[in-house]
Amino acid sequence: MNPSGPVVSPPSSASSRWRGKLLALLRPLREQIESVKREHASPRRLGVAVAVGVLVGSSPFLGFQVLMAIALATVFRLNRIAVLLGLQISMPPITPFLLFLNAQVGARLLEGRWLPLSLEAFRAVPAKQVAADLFLDLLVGGLLVGGVLAAGLGWMTAYLLQRQRTRGSLSDLFTPEQWAQLQGRLEGLPRAWRKYALWKMRLDPVYKLILPELPEDAELLDLGSGMGLLPLLLSVRSPRSSVRAVEWDERKVRMAHQLLEGLPAVRVEAGDASKCPLGTPNAVALLDVLHYSPIAQQQEWLLRCAEALRPGGLLLVRELEPKQSRWPLAPVLERLAVRLGWNRGASVHAWSPSEMARMLTPLGFTAELRPAGSGVFSANTLLIARKASQTQHGH
Ligand SMILES: C[S@@+](CC[C@H](N)C(=O)[O-])C[C@H]1O[C@@H](n2cnc3c(N)ncnc32)[C@H](O)[C@@H]1O
Repeated sequence: MNPSGPVVSPPSSASSRWRGKLLALLRPLREQIESVKREHASPRRLGVAVAVGVLVGSSPFLGFQVLMAIALATVFRLNRIAVLLGLQISMPPITPFLLFLNAQVGARLLEGRWLPLSLEAFRAVPAKQVAADLFLDLLVGGLLVGGVLAAGLGWMTAYLLQRQRTRGSLSDLFTPEQWAQLQGRLEGLPRAWRKYALWKMRLDPVYKLILPELPEDAELLDLGSGMGLLPLLLSVRSPRSSVRAVEWDERKVRMAHQLLEGLPAVRVEAGDASKCPLGTPNAVALLDVLHYSPIAQQQEWLLRCAEALRPGGLLLVRELEPKQSRWPLAPVLERLAVRLGWNRGASVHAWSPSEMARMLTPLGFTAELRPAGSGVFSANTLLIARKASQTQHGH
């Protein structure tokens, strides 16, 4: 026995060399997998990819399904991993049940009867004929059953991914100290406003989408800033940034002053944000603000913001995209908020972010639209438009 305790062998340099070599060998494979995971990876396209996989998996081409799935994914530019996942609908324990269901549905559709369950019924028919009929039943039944499963599972995939991407947790973007600082500031607000702010930060995906887009030294102009949540989040997350917030509702201005008190680089102004001087910020935010003005006024306002922005700057606008709207509940709630005086404005006028993007691109902006809502506001869309930098503009 060793009196000085157990012997701990030093890490062998040979084994760490082998480990290093193995990792180096596997690196291209890992990179390949990562790149396949990222290909055509919008929630909608992933949903379509899963649906295609399910449809192929429900077909009777056993043995060729993987090849068919990869070929279809390549031709239609779908995510290959998602297609292969969809294919798992015909995994071994499920395969016999799926084939049975497909054959029954196919026989019912083609011959108007269910397939007999005893072997006796097939004895009189030549084996080739039985195989051909069964294949046809499986094909037709597979198209119907597979189509229904594909639509359901594909839709579910797109829905869940969309939800996961727009939700997530805002706190992930902050250090624990910064998060505590935020909570501390909210603590000082009257209860109703504090609750509202906490719920908005929890449920509204827009801040999580915007904050990573803004540079560390952003000079943000937040027009129609409400109670000042975006200025607070940005200045706590990026202390080198500065924010000028403009809001015309006196109650919200008071609340913003209270919330942002003592933050040296944040200025809150009371006034009409559509008329105030804009300066030369490198980012402008108009979150849920434009629709309180008539469309002609919105266009004029947006153009002024686009002009004021520095080259390379960001224009961030969130509005409802009417084409995406499944229920017209969101505009109704907006009108109600105006009627009840929660949001100050004359009325509600919808101008879609995709049309805004069309207006901005000829001015040298590159525009991207991202889903930025949940629940009844799921049609909310964030327009992220970047102004051309000086050099691009010069060309
Ligand atoms: C729905 S709230 C959004 C507040 C904030 N942007 C946010 O995302 O939390 C819209 C705000 O825009 C303000 N607003 C609308 N038109 C305005 C204008 N012309 N000038 C200043 N504020 C305006 C309203 O008073 C309201 O506080």
